[in-house]
Amino acid sequence: APRHIPVICIDGPTASGKGTVAAAVAQKLGYRFLDSGAMYRITAHAAIRAGLAIDAAHEEQIAALARELPVHFHGGRIWLDQDDVSDAIRTEEAGMNASRVSALPQVRTALIDLQHSFQRLPGLVADGRDMGTVIFPQAPLKVFLTASAACRAERRYKQLISKGISANIDTLRADLEARDARDQSRAVAPLKPAEDALVLDNSDLSIDEAVDRVIAWWQARQPFGA
Ligand code: DC
Repeated sequence: APRHIPVICIDGPTASGKGTVAAAVAQKLGYRFLDSGAMYRITAHAAIRAGLAIDAAHEEQIAALARELPVHFHGGRIWLDQDDVSDAIRTEEAGMNASRVSALPQVRTALIDLQHSFQRLPGLVADGRDMGTVIFPQAPLKVFLTASAACRAERRYKQLISKGISANIDTLRADLEARDARDQSRAVAPLKPAEDALVLDNSDLSIDEAVDRVIAWWQARQPFGA
C-alpha cells in the first residue's frame, strides 16, 4: 500500500459511533471514507442471495463471492449488481450475519485488496474492527472508539425508533454484546485496540466532541500544523 497517503483508522465495537465519527472526520478533512463493515455486510448478503449458509462448510464458496463482489457505490447508495442493498444490509440481522461471515479467515483475506483500494489521495479515514491492527498497520493515527454497552444500546434504540422501526432495548443490548463477544474471540483479526491506538470512550461525548478530539489528534501529528 502507498505509504505516503495518510490513513486514519477508527476501530471499535458495534454501535460505538465510529461510523458517524469516521464519516464526519473524512468530510472535515476532505478525505475518502472506508466503511469496512459494509464489505462484510454485503458479502453476507451475497452469500444468502446465492443460497449459501454462512458457516465453515461454505467458507471457500463465500470467499470466492467476496473476491469478486459486484459492488458499486453511487448516488450515496450501495449496489450489488442491479440490487440496491443499502437498506437491507443495515438491519440487526444483517449485522449479525456480517459478524458470522467475518469470522471466516478466507473471507477476510478475500476482502483485503478491496479495502486497500480505498487508500487514495488526499487521504483515507477507515472504519472497522481491524483497520489499525491488520489492514493499515502503518497508519499514523489509530483511534479505538468505545462506549459503554448501555450507552450503545440506547443510541441504537433511538436510531431505530427514529426510523419508525420498533425495538426493545434489552434485546438490542444482548445482541450487541453477543456480536462483540464473537468479534473479540475469533481467531483471525479479532476486535482489539492496536498497540499504538489512542482509546476514546465517547459515552459522555457528543458526536461533535468526538470528531473534534480526533481532528485535534490528527493536527497534533502534522509537522507544520494543518
Ligand atoms: O461495523 P459493522 O457493524 O457494520 O460491522 C459488521 C460486522 O462485520 C461486525 O460485527 C464484524 C465485521 N467486521 C469485521 O470483522 N472487520 C471489520 N473491519 C469491519 C466489520
